[in-house]
Amino acid sequence: MRPYDIIKKKRDGGVNTKEEIEYMINGYLNEEIPDYQVAAWLMAIFFRHMQEEESYNLAEIMLKSGDTIDLSEIKGKKIDKHSTGGVGDKTTIAIAPMVASLGLKVAKLSGRSLGHTGGTIDKLEAIPGFKTDLQVKDFYRIANEVGIVVAGQTANIAPADKKIYALRDATATVEELSLIASSIMSKKLAVLSDGIVLDVKVGSGAFMKDIDEAKELAVIMLAIAKRHKRSAKALITNMNQPLGETVGNSLEVLEAVNTVKGNGPKDFTKLCIEISSHMADLSGIISYQEAKKKLVENIKNGVVSRKMKEWIKAQGGNEEVVDHPSNVLNISKEIIDFKADRAGYITYIDTEKVGMASMYLGAGRQKKEDSIDLSVGLKILKKLGDKVQDGETIARLFVSENSNVEFALDLLRQAYSIQKEASLNICNDIIFD
Ligand code: URA
Repeated sequence: MRPYDIIKKKRDGGVNTKEEIEYMINGYLNEEIPDYQVAAWLMAIFFRHMQEEESYNLAEIMLKSGDTIDLSEIKGKKIDKHSTGGVGDKTTIAIAPMVASLGLKVAKLSGRSLGHTGGTIDKLEAIPGFKTDLQVKDFYRIANEVGIVVAGQTANIAPADKKIYALRDATATVEELSLIASSIMSKKLAVLSDGIVLDVKVGSGAFMKDIDEAKELAVIMLAIAKRHKRSAKALITNMNQPLGETVGNSLEVLEAVNTVKGNGPKDFTKLCIEISSHMADLSGIISYQEAKKKLVENIKNGVVSRKMKEWIKAQGGNEEVVDHPSNVLNISKEIIDFKADRAGYITYIDTEKVGMASMYLGAGRQKKEDSIDLSVGLKILKKLGDKVQDGETIARLFVSENSNVEFALDLLRQAYSIQKEASLNICNDIIFD
C-alpha cells in the first residue's frame, strides 16, 4: 500500500477501504507517513467527502487508537451529552443536576475553550476550589455518591483524532461533515455510557451554518452510534445568537446557577429541559413527557439546586456559589458598554464574532497554550428581533487590563445588524430531533 495511491483514489472520488484508512491513520500516528501526505488526503476528503462506511471506519480506527472509559463501576443509567460547539453554551453545568434529579447518572468528560467556543472545564474552574483533574477512583466514587461527575480529558482518548484534528485545523479541512462526525464520535464512543444525546448546533455561531448540513451531520453521527450498538439521539438547535445572556466563564456559571433555581433566561432554560428530557427518555427510567413535567417541579421545589450544591461540594468547589453566586464568583467590576449606533431592530447576529469578541476580552483561547481570565466576558442585553434606540446598550463588556477592548468592540460592531424594519425568519426553538 502507498499513501500516494490512497490519496489519488480519494482525489478522484473513490471510496477508501478500512485497510487504507487504517494505513493512513496509523502511519501518521507512528510518524511513518509525513504530514504533507495526510494533509493532501484530508483535502481530498474535504472535496470528495467520505461515505457513511468510511466515516464509521475512521471513527472506529481513531477510537481504537486510545483508551476507553469503563463506567460499569457506576451504578445506574449513565447518559452522556455532547454539544458540537457554540457561544454561551453552559448547558452541561445546568443539565447535570437536572438529569441527576431524575435519578440518572452523569459521568462526563468535557473540554476546554478554543477559538470562538467556550469549554465546560474552564467554566467549572470559575467556581473557587472546583477540581476537574480527578483520580479515577474519585471519578467513580463521586458519580456513585452524588450522581454527577464532570472531569477534564486526562485519559488517552482517541489520540489519533487529536493529531488529525491539529492537522485539519492547520490545513482548513475542519469543516467537512464526515470528518467532524468521525472526530466527535471517536471521542464520545470512548466513554462507555448507556446512551448519548447529541446537541448539533446550527447557525452563525456553529460549525454548521445551515440546517441541511446540520441534519446530515446528525444523521452520520447517529449511524456511527448505531453501528457501534450504542443508543443515541440528536437534536438540532439554534446557534444564530448566543445561548442565554452571557458569554465568559464566571458569567456563564452565574447564569447556570440562576437557571437551576428557575431564574434563567427562557431560551437557555428551555434548551436545558429539552436535552435533559431526551437524556431521561434514552435512559428508559422516565419518559420524555414525564421528565419534562418533573424537571419543572424539581427546579421549583429546589431539588435541582440542592443537587448542584452536592455536586460542587463533592468536586471540592465552594457550594455557596449556588445560594450567593455574587459573593463567590470573580466577575470583573470594570464594565464597558457596547451601544447601538442607530435605532432599529436587531435582524442578524454573527454569533461567531460575538464568541471571538469574548475571546479577545480574555475569556477564551486563540491557541491551546493561551491562559484565560475567568472574570471577563459579555452580558448580552439585546438579541434577535429586539428593538433598540440609538445609543442604547446592546451588550456589556466585563473587562480586565489584559482585554483587547478595541478589538472586541470592533467585532461586536461587525456582528450586529440593526435595520429599520424587523425582518426575522429565524427559529429560536429546537428545530429537529
Ligand atoms: N468537534 C470535534 O471534536 N471535532 C471536529 O471535527 C469538530 C468539532
